Amino acid sequence: MGAKLFVVFNLLFFFFPFLGAAAVEVLQTYIVQLHRQEVTAGSDAVFASKLHWHLSFLEKSVPWDREKQPSSRLLYSYHTVFDGFAAQLTGEEAAALLELPAVASVRADRRVELHTTYSYKFLGLNFCPSGAWARSGFGGGTIIGVLDTGVWPENPSFDDRGMPPVPVRWQGVCQGGEHFNASNCNRKLIGARFYSKGHRANYPTKPSDDVSLMEYVSPRDAHGHGTHTASTAAGAAVAGASVLGVGAGEARGVAPGAHVAAYKVCWFNGCFSSDILAGMDDAVRDGVDVLSLSLGGFPIPLFEDSIAIGSYRATVRGVSVVCAAGNNGPSPSSVANEAPWVLTVGAATLDRRFPAYVRLGNGRILYGESMYPGKVDLKNGGKELELVYAADGTREEEYCIKGSLSATAVAGKMVVCDRGITGRADKGEAVKEAGGAAMILANSEINQQEDSVDVHVVPATLIGYREAVELKEYISSTKRPVARIVFGGTRIGRARAPAVALFSARGPSMTNPSVLKPDVIAPGVNIIAAWPGSLGPSGLEDDARRSNFTVLSGTSMACPHVSGIAALIRSAHPSWNPAMIRSAIMTTADVTDRQGKPIMDGEGGKADVFAMGAGHVNPARAVDPGLVYDIDPADYVTHLCTLGYTHTQIFKIAHSGVNCSAVLQRNGGFSLNYPSISVAFKKGVTSAALQRTVTNVGTPNSTYTAQVAAPPGVKVRVSPTTLTFSDFGEKKTFRVSVDAATPSARDNAEGYLVWKQSGGQGNRRVRSPIAVTWVVE
Ligand SMILES: *[C@@H]1O[C@H](CO)[C@@H](O)[C@H](O)[C@H]1NC(C)=O
Ligand SMILES: *[C@@H]1O[C@H](CO)[C@@H](O)[C@H](O)[C@H]1NC(C)=O
Ligand SMILES: *[C@@H]1O[C@H](CO)[C@@H](O)[C@H](O)[C@H]1NC(C)=O
Ligand SMILES: *[C@@H]1O[C@H](CO)[C@@H](O)[C@H](O)[C@H]1NC(C)=O
Repeated sequence: MGAKLFVVFNLLFFFFPFLGAAAVEVLQTYIVQLHRQEVTAGSDAVFASKLHWHLSFLEKSVPWDREKQPSSRLLYSYHTVFDGFAAQLTGEEAAALLELPAVASVRADRRVELHTTYSYKFLGLNFCPSGAWARSGFGGGTIIGVLDTGVWPENPSFDDRGMPPVPVRWQGVCQGGEHFNASNCNRKLIGARFYSKGHRANYPTKPSDDVSLMEYVSPRDAHGHGTHTASTAAGAAVAGASVLGVGAGEARGVAPGAHVAAYKVCWFNGCFSSDILAGMDDAVRDGVDVLSLSLGGFPIPLFEDSIAIGSYRATVRGVSVVCAAGNNGPSPSSVANEAPWVLTVGAATLDRRFPAYVRLGNGRILYGESMYPGKVDLKNGGKELELVYAADGTREEEYCIKGSLSATAVAGKMVVCDRGITGRADKGEAVKEAGGAAMILANSEINQQEDSVDVHVVPATLIGYREAVELKEYISSTKRPVARIVFGGTRIGRARAPAVALFSARGPSMTNPSVLKPDVIAPGVNIIAAWPGSLGPSGLEDDARRSNFTVLSGTSMACPHVSGIAALIRSAHPSWNPAMIRSAIMTTADVTDRQGKPIMDGEGGKADVFAMGAGHVNPARAVDPGLVYDIDPADYVTHLCTLGYTHTQIFKIAHSGVNCSAVLQRNGGFSLNYPSISVAFKKGVTSAALQRTVTNVGTPNSTYTAQVAAPPGVKVRVSPTTLTFSDFGEKKTFRVSVDAATPSARDNAEGYLVWKQSGGQGNRRVRSPIAVTWVVE
C-alpha cells in the first residue's frame, strides 16, 4: 500500500484520461428522483421497503441478463435527504425511466472537486470566561459530520482524552475496511464511513483491481484533505504541533470539545454527486448537527445540484450545512454552493507569515514566503545558486510540469517556475526529479501578490507578481544570474489581516442574485492542521507525513472553521435552528481588520460585499448576537416561488409539490428573512420593498435603533427605526424600502444596516450588508 500510495500522492493534481477511456460499456451513473411514496406496513403499498421500491424501477427498465440481475445496477438507495436512487444505466434506459409517472427527475452523475493552529487564536478564541469556548463548553456534545477524503484516525488531533461519552442519540457506525476497523473510532472520532460506488462506476477497472480507487478502500484518508478539514473544525489540542519546526504552536480545532464523524466521499479523482448524496443521507440519519463540505463545482441551477438538494432536507431536519465557496475567484459570480439554506464560506488571510526572501546576485532582496521544512540553516539560507528560468515558449517548461524540465539545464540550479497548470507542490517535485537544487515559484499576473505557502521537497519560496517581474528582468539582463533563499521562520503580526484571499470565489450569485453570497469569510490561507502519517515502513519521503501537520490554503480550509463555530453556537444554544445559527455568525462578523481599517481584498483595495459577504467571522460575538433572523424552512420554497421556479423545479429540491400562485397570493410582498439584504433590479425596475423579522435572543428588555448607510445613488428607508423588546424570544418586524430612481451606470453598489442596542442593557450590534445589483439581461 505504501509504495502505491506514494505514486498516487505525487500525481495528486493530475487527470487520468486513460482510466476514463478504459470504459467500454455505455453505462453511466444516473441519480433518479422519485415522487414520494409512503412505505408503511399495512398500507396498500406493495413494497416491503424503500429499497424494494427502488429496485422495482430497475426491474422494469433494465433487461434481464443471466449473469447480471437488474439489481446489480443499483449503486445507492437514498432515504433521508433524497427520495430515489443512483444506478448504472444506458442513456435509453435513463430516458425510459424519466417517462414513468413516479419518476420526478433523472440526472447524470456529476464530478466535483475539493476546494483546495494558529487560526483559532486569530479568531479570538481563548480561555476567557466570557469567551466563545467557555460559553459553549468548547462545542461539547455537538457532532460535526465532515464529507471529505476520510480521516487519519491516529493523528493526535483525534485523541479522545477528556472527551465526554459518545452522545446516546448517535446512530452512526465506524465502518471497517482497508487498514481501518471499529477500534479506530473513539469519543472524538465517533463515526466513519466511505462511499466509493459512484466513483468506481466512473473509473471502472478490472474486477478485484482496487487501483480504480488507488487508495485505502476504507474511511482512511490517503489524501490528507479530510484529515486537515476535520481537525480544523474539531481537532483536540496538540501541544508542540508544527510543520517540522515551522509555525510551531499548539494546534487545536475551532470546537475542540465537539465530536467528529468522517464521511469519505472524495477519492483521488474527485468526488461524485452520487457518493456525496449517499454520505449526506447517512450523516443526517446518523445524527450529525453540522455538516461540513469543503467541496463543490461551478455554480449550476439549484435543482440540478445534488449538494443543494441534499442540504435542503438536511436543513429541514435541523442540520446546519456549511460549504466552501470555491477557489475560482476573483472572477465575479464564481461563488458555488450558493443555496439560500446553506452557509457559504469564502477565504481570508491570517496575520501569520513565513518569510523566505530571495537575495539576488545584484544585492536586491525580493520578498517571498515558504514553509520549506528541510534542514537548511533558516537564518543564513541556502547556498548561492545559479538561476534558471526555462521559458522558451514551446514546451511550457516555465510551468515546471513533470517531465518537461531538461536535467542538463536545471541540474544543481535554482529553477524559476511560473504558477499555473499544475499544483504548486507538484512543481517542486518536478524540479527535484530533474535534479534542480531549489525553486522559486513566481506568481503570474492573475495571482498578483497572493501568497499561499506549501510544504516543498526542495528549498523553495513563492514570490508575488511584482517580484516575479523584477526577478525575470534580472535573469534576462545578467550573464550568470545567481540567488539564494533566506528563510525567516514564522512571523506573527502581518500588516493588514484578515484580507480576502485572491482565489476566494465571489458573488453575486449567478443562480440567485437576490441572496448575497458568500455569506462570510474565514481563515483559509496557510492553515496548519492535521495530516496523515504513514503505516509502518513505506519509504515515504514526505516530510509532512512525518510531522503530523501540514499547511494548506483554500476555501476548503475556511469552511471547517465556520463548521466549528456553528458547533460552538449550537452547544451554547441547543434549541437554535440552522437559520438562527447562520444569522448569529453573519450579523456579528467583522468588516474591519486588526488595524481597525476596512478589510482589504488581497492588496487591491477595500473588499466589497461580493468578496466577503457579511464579513470575517467573530465567534466570541457570534455566541451572543442579541437578535437573529430566523427562517422557517417552508419559506425557502416560497422564496423559490418568488424567483419564478416552476413546480417541477421546486419539487426536485423540496420533494414536495407547491402551487406557487397560491403561495404567493397568501404571502403578498414576501421576502426571505435572510440576515443580509440583496436587491437585484431587473431592467426598468427601480424600487423594492422588503420585510425582515428579528427575534430577541439577547436580553429581555432591550431597545435597538437602526443605523443605515445607503449604497451610493440608492435611497434606503427602514421603518420603524426603533425596535423595543420586553421578552426573550419576542419577534419584531420592520420594512426596508430600496429606491434607485436614477438608473445606475454601475453594476452594483453596497451599504449596510445595523441594529444598535441602546438603553443600558448591552451594546450589541446586529449588522446586515446591503447589496444592490442591476441585472443585465
Ligand atoms: C483493528 O486493527 C488493529 C490494527 O490497526 C488490530 O490490532 C486490531 O486487532 C483490529 N481489531 C479488530 C476487531 O479487527
Ligand atoms: C505523530 O503522531 C504520532 C501518533 O500520535 C506520534 O506517535 C508521533 O510521535 C507524532 N510525530 C511527531 C513528529 O510529532
Ligand atoms: C393554484 O392556485 C391558484 C390560486 O389559488 C388556483 O387558481 C389554481 O387552480 C391552483 N392550481 C393548481 C394546479 O392547483
Ligand atoms: C423588564 O421591564 C419590565 C417593565 O419595566 C420589568 O417589569 C421587568 O422586570 C424587566 N425585566 C427584566 C428581566 O429586567
